[in-house]
Amino acid sequence: MTYRRKDTYHRRARAAGYRARSAYKLAELADRFQVLRRGDHVVDLGAWPGGWLQVAVERIGAEGRAVGVDVVPLEPLPAANVALIAGDVRDPAVTQAARTRLGRAADVVLSDLAPKLTGVAATDEARRSELAASVLAALPHLLRPGGRLVMKLFMGPDQPALVARLRESFDDVTTTRPEATRRGSAELYVVGLGHRARNA
Ligand SMILES: C[S@@+](CC[C@H](N)C(=O)[O-])C[C@H]1O[C@@H](n2cnc3c(N)ncnc32)[C@H](O)[C@@H]1O
Repeated sequence: MTYRRKDTYHRRARAAGYRARSAYKLAELADRFQVLRRGDHVVDLGAWPGGWLQVAVERIGAEGRAVGVDVVPLEPLPAANVALIAGDVRDPAVTQAARTRLGRAADVVLSDLAPKLTGVAATDEARRSELAASVLAALPHLLRPGGRLVMKLFMGPDQPALVARLRESFDDVTTTRPEATRRGSAELYVVGLGHRARNA
């Protein structure tokens, strides 16, 4: 069953021209929560190979703007309103550069960040926490008041505290697992609506 689901999403992604099956996770969340709207300015953290960016561009239209950030350089997208930054989100200069490329604070921050795993549980947990902390640290200058967040988290000891911090920063926070999430995966997605922080 797991194999059939996985295969279906891979096939669908390939047929639709999406760079990654994960595109369907964002599409589902965007449909359920109206996260992406026409004209939105969007920052996508951990954007390679670009499946989420493709979905974002479809939803925001030509009048929107998107900036994708990843340590791995992305192949350009065939859209004039997408900028790409090769950089590490743990470096505040990189998220600042994303805001600069956007021209203003974002309406939406997307984060599908996932660290390279070592197989050593404590190390992997620390790496995931560090990435999540980097996203939280960037939000006050990256996301406009009232803005929206879609962020991948991993089930683990730090997850409840992270969600609690997000509840302080957003009017409405939902944790969910989209249909396209692989069975057995530790991934969770958080959707935050109504960002409370002021712009830096
Ligand atoms: C699951 S993939 C993202 C898939 C993407 N959402 C898509 O649909 O194509 C996670 C990405 O996080 C990136 N990443 C991990 N650590 C990072 C860091 N410190 N800074 C920037 N990107 C990072 C990885 O290089 C990887 O491409």
